[in-house]
Amino acid sequence: MALAKAKPAVSDYLVTQDWKGYSATEHTTWKTLFERQQAILRDRACNEYLAGVHALDVTAAGIPDFRRLNEILKASSGWEIVAVPGLVPDDVFFALLADRKFPSTCFIRTPAQLDYIQEPDVFHDVFGHVPLLVHPVFGDYMQAYGEGGLKALGLGALEKLARLYWYTVEFGLIRTPEGLRIYGSGIVSSKGESIYSLEAKAPKRIEFDLMRIMRTRYRIDDFQECYFVIDSFKDLIEATRPDFTPYYAELAGLPDIAPGEVIESDRLL
Ligand code: PHE
Ligand code: FE
Repeated sequence: MALAKAKPAVSDYLVTQDWKGYSATEHTTWKTLFERQQAILRDRACNEYLAGVHALDVTAAGIPDFRRLNEILKASSGWEIVAVPGLVPDDVFFALLADRKFPSTCFIRTPAQLDYIQEPDVFHDVFGHVPLLVHPVFGDYMQAYGEGGLKALGLGALEKLARLYWYTVEFGLIRTPEGLRIYGSGIVSSKGESIYSLEAKAPKRIEFDLMRIMRTRYRIDDFQECYFVIDSFKDLIEATRPDFTPYYAELAGLPDIAPGEVIESDRLL
C-alpha cells in the first residue's frame, strides 16, 4: 500500500542565508541599488518607510546579514525575517505572515538586471518590504493579511485578496502633508517606477476603495496603470478589519475591472 505523502511543514521551506558566501560583486550590486534609491526616495517615499530604513541600519555597505537585522526587527516590532529559496506556496506564505515572519529571498539580481527583475530578490524583499515592518500599524496589517489569506484560501477568494496585497503592500501610495508619497515595496525597489508612480501623467491615481481594489486585475510585466492612495496606515488597517466573508460573496457577482479602467465611483486624484 502506498503511503500518502505528508504535506510539507512550513519549516521545510526555510533555508539559512549564507551571508559569508556573498561575493564582492553581489555586495556591489546592493550598494549600487541602495545608493540610487536613497537619492530618489528621499522626497518620494513616506516618512514611515524612511524611518524604518534608518532604524534597521540598512545601508549602502552591502547585503544585510539577516541575523543582525533580526536583532533590531524582533526587538522593535516582533517581526522576523526568514530566508526562503524563492516564492513559497500561498498557504506557507500566509502562515508565515500570520506568525510575524517575513519570507525573504537571499539571492541578488545580476548587474544586468539592475533596472528590472520580475521575481523578488533580496533587494526587493529587504530594502522594499522590511523597513515598514518596523512600523507598528503596518506590521499589524501584514500579520492580519496573513490571517486573512489563510481564510481566503478556505473560501476560494485568493484572487480577490491577492489584489489587495498588490495594490497596497506592493504598489501603494499614501497622502501626506508634504504631498503624495510611496509606501509600496514594488515601487521603492524600482528606480523607474519610483519616479513614474508619482510623476507620470499616464497612470490613474485613485482613492483607496477596498471592494474596487479587489475587483481590479493587475499587471506583473510593466509599470502599473493605476495606483490606489491611502490617507494613513490606520485608515488602511481599519478598512480591512471587518470579516471579508460577505465581501467575497458580493465580489463573486461583480465583474473584474481592467488595470487602466476608470469606473463611475472612482475618486481620482
Ligand atoms: N479582515 C480580513 C478578513 O476577515 C482579513 C484581512 C486583514 C485581509 C487585513 C487583508 C488585510 O478576511
Ligand atoms: Fe514583494
